[in-house]
Amino acid sequence: MTLSIRFIAITISILSLTSCKNKVEVKEHKAETKQELIDRVFSLTEHQYDYLISRIDTISQLLNPRSLNNDGSLRMAYKQDWTCGFFPGSLWYLYEQTKDNKWKIEAEKFTEALDSAQFVKWNHDVGFMIQNSFGQGYRLTGNETYKQAVVDAAKSLSTRYRPVAKVIQSWDTDAPWIQGKGLDMPIIIDNMMNLNLLYQATKHTADSTFSNIANAHATTTIKNQYRPDYSCYHIIDYDHITGEVRKKVNFQGFADESAWARGQAWGLYGYTEAYKESGHKIFLEQAKKIADYIMNNDKIPNDNIPNWDYDAVSAEEIPRDASAAAIVASALLELQAFDLEHKKEYLDYAETILRTLSSDEYLSQKNENGGFILKHSVGNFHENNETDAPLNYADYYYLEALIRWSNI
Ligand code: GLY
Repeated sequence: MTLSIRFIAITISILSLTSCKNKVEVKEHKAETKQELIDRVFSLTEHQYDYLISRIDTISQLLNPRSLNNDGSLRMAYKQDWTCGFFPGSLWYLYEQTKDNKWKIEAEKFTEALDSAQFVKWNHDVGFMIQNSFGQGYRLTGNETYKQAVVDAAKSLSTRYRPVAKVIQSWDTDAPWIQGKGLDMPIIIDNMMNLNLLYQATKHTADSTFSNIANAHATTTIKNQYRPDYSCYHIIDYDHITGEVRKKVNFQGFADESAWARGQAWGLYGYTEAYKESGHKIFLEQAKKIADYIMNNDKIPNDNIPNWDYDAVSAEEIPRDASAAAIVASALLELQAFDLEHKKEYLDYAETILRTLSSDEYLSQKNENGGFILKHSVGNFHENNETDAPLNYADYYYLEALIRWSNI
C-alpha cells in the first residue's frame, strides 16, 4: 500500500470508528500462576533461541537477528544498527534466568561480535547497542573488558552533547532518513533510553561529566518534548546556533500531534531509569505523570496492548505494537518500587500486559515466528517496514519485564 493510501485508510477508520476498541481474541492461560507463566515463557525462549541461532548464517560475519523479512527470512542488524544490542541482551536475560552456562557462552559470542559499536559517534543509539549487550554482560559477569566498552561508548555518546541547547543530538543531519526534511539539530524521544549508559559510565569511572550530560538532556526534554497532557513528540528540532526550538514533529507516529505508542513507552522507561540513577525528584514526577497518561488513556484497548499510535484507533488494519507494551510493562515494574502510592496500579497494569503478551495471540508457538518470542510489533509503519512483525527489542523488554516481575 502506498503511503498516501495508508494514511487515507487510517483517517477513514478513525473518523468512523473512534469509539470502538480493537478486538483481539486472546486465549488466556487463565489458571496459571505468575511463576508457571514465567517458567513456560522461558522454556519456550530456550527452544526458540536454539532454533533462531541455528538459522543464523555465521559464515561471513556474525550479526544479530533483528526481525523477519516479508519472505520469512531473518532480517539481521548490521553492526551499527540501533537494534544490534538487543539479541545479546535477551541472551543475557536467558542466562540470568536459567543459570545455564550454554546461554552465557552464546551471550558472550553475540555481544563480542559488536565490539566496534562502542566507537559509534554518528548517532545516539550507542546506548541501546552497548548498554544492553556489554552492559548486561558486565552486570552478570564482572568482565572488565565489557566495563571498558561501556565507558568507551559513553565517551562516544558524550561527543554528541550540544551545550547550546543542553541536549544530546540524536541524528546527524546527513543521516539518509532525514535528508531533505529540513531538520537542523534533531532530538528524538528514544534518546532518553541512551542515558543509562552515561549513568553507568559515571559509576564505573567516578567522572560525573557523563551523568551531568544525562541529567541536562533529561531536564531539557521535560521542558520541550512533552505536551501539557504528558504525551510526547517524537522529534524536537533545535537551532544548532541559538539552541532555540525550531519545530516539533513526528516521523514515526500517525501525525505531528499524535501519540506514537513506542515513543510514549521510551519516555516512561527513560524517566524511571533517570530517577533510579540520579535520584532527581523531577524525573520521578515526570515518570509518574507519563504513567498516569498511559494507564488512563481510553485509546488503549483493555488488554493494555496499544495500537502503534494511540491516535490510530480501531479497525483491523491498524496494527498493535507489542514492543511498546513490553517496554511499558518493564518500566512500570521498575517504577512501582519508587511510587508506593500507585504501586498496585502499576503492578496490575503490567500484569495485564504480560498475561496478554503470554497468550497464544502474542506468544509464538515453537519453531514459528522465525525463532523470535513475540508476534505483532510495529517497527516503522510509514515505511511499511516490520509492520505486524517480531522485533528483537519486543523480546528483550518482555524478558526483562518477566524477570523484574519474578523478583517482586
Ligand atoms: N529507536 C527507533 C524506534 O523506536 O523505532
